Order: sequence, then C-alpha cells, then structure tokens
Amino acid sequence: MTLTDLTKDELRELAGRYPQSRSALLPMLHLIQSVEGNVTNEGIEVCADILGISAAEVSGVATFYTMYKRRPMGEHHVGVCTNTLCAVMGGDLIFERLKGHLDVGNDETTEDGKVTLEHIECNAACDFAPVMMVNWEFFDNQTPDSAVELVDKLRAGETVQATRGATITSWREAERVLAGFEDGLVDEGPAAAGPSLAGLEIAAERGWSAPSVDEAKQASSGSGDATSDTKTGAAEQADTQRAETETKVEESPADTAKEGEDD
Ligand code: FES
Repeated sequence: MTLTDLTKDELRELAGRYPQSRSALLPMLHLIQSVEGNVTNEGIEVCADILGISAAEVSGVATFYTMYKRRPMGEHHVGVCTNTLCAVMGGDLIFERLKGHLDVGNDETTEDGKVTLEHIECNAACDFAPVMMVNWEFFDNQTPDSAVELVDKLRAGETVQATRGATITSWREAERVLAGFEDGLVDEGPAAAGPSLAGLEIAAERGWSAPSVDEAKQASSGSGDATSDTKTGAAEQADTQRAETETKVEESPADTAKEGEDD
C-alpha cells in the first residue's frame, strides 16, 4: 500500500507541532501504523524524508519501542500483563488460557485476523491486577474466564467498553489517537477509581496535603533559617504520619488475635 498525499500532509502537520521536528517521530510512527497496520519500510522512508534524518535512525526507534510493530496487526491488539504482580495474581494463567483459546502464540494473530495476542509489561495498573489491555484501554481485575469472554466479544464484533476508558474501536483507530488526532471519546468512562484513589481518600480524611511548590522548593534547597523551619515542619509532619501508621500496625487485628492466643 502506498501512503496517500493526505497521510503525508498529516505527517508534516505532526512534524510542525514541535520546535524540533524530529520530536514528532513517535506520533508519526503511530500515524503510519494507523494507516498501514504496522510500521512499513515505506513509512520509515517517508518519516525520514520529512524529518531530514536517516532511515536507519527511524528504524532504530521503530524497533526499540514495543508499541511499534513491524508485522501486520490484527483488528484488535490484546495485551495481557504478565509482569510480576499481575503474573502472581493470575496474569500467567490468563495468557496461557488465551493462547489455547485463540490458538496463537505470543505476538501472533488469529486466523480470522481479529486479535493479535501479546504478553505485555507493567502498565502501571497493578492496583487492578491482573490487567489486560485492548488497543491500550484498561480491562481490570480479569480472570481466565472473563478474558475468554472478552476476546470472543471482540471477534464477534460486539460493543465492548473498557473498565476505565472509552468504548473499544480498533487498534488502527487507537493508533490514530496516539498519533495526536482525537476521536472524541477521550472523556468516556472513569479515568480513575477504586484502589487508585484509596490513598487520596485517607489523606483527605486525615487532613494531609502535599506541601506547596514554594514549601517543597525551600525544603529541598536546604539552607537558611526559613528553610530550616520548613524542613523541620515537613519532617515533623512526616514523623507524625509515620507514627500514626506504626500505631495502626501495632493495633492491627492480627496482633490483637495473637495476643488473645498468647493469653
Ligand atoms: S504488574 Fe501488571 S499492571 Fe503492573
């Protein structure tokens, strides 16, 4: 497939968004993927030409980051986190189950072209482990059964809503969003929920707050009377909070139960 003039214009538009045009390479590669289904040799040549860099430099970036694919992708990219926390919480089981159910290995696409399966690294959603991603949208607290149900819906073309994010479109459409062309779905679904906000809720209950930017700067500069006072104040607050936590741990139900046993 040959890149159209429209795509080349959009690539130039991306290059023009940055003071240093080569900074646009990452979104440009996402746009290539949205059009071609992967980073093609032609895409590499066109990016290099627009940015005035070598094809080898573009290729070096495209082969370094795992979000860029040199082989054609399926309609949907299904990622299963098998990093430490997700793995022990069931990610490994989910990945094995999906490999068998879809009859593919890692980084392979189903015969119908609908799903490319990949085991992925931590997506910073460990509080919802085990996590799956469909076209980089989150699916939290998955099980082998829910994972199978999810991929079956995708293959059947049913509407699927991410746990914390937008309605699933397709990998190519998601790549266009990553390139910097919005699809109007950005506000769909909750962005944060549950365990991600637990710390914030505890802080609100206890009246804890982060220091202001000025206080933080003073505390980190480490000199002067005012700074010393601020540092002392911040350190005292940290000590108080630590002491409260330690007190809570000392009074944990497990300890209380153990005391009862000892008696
Ligand atoms: S280990 Fe899976 S999201 Fe962090």
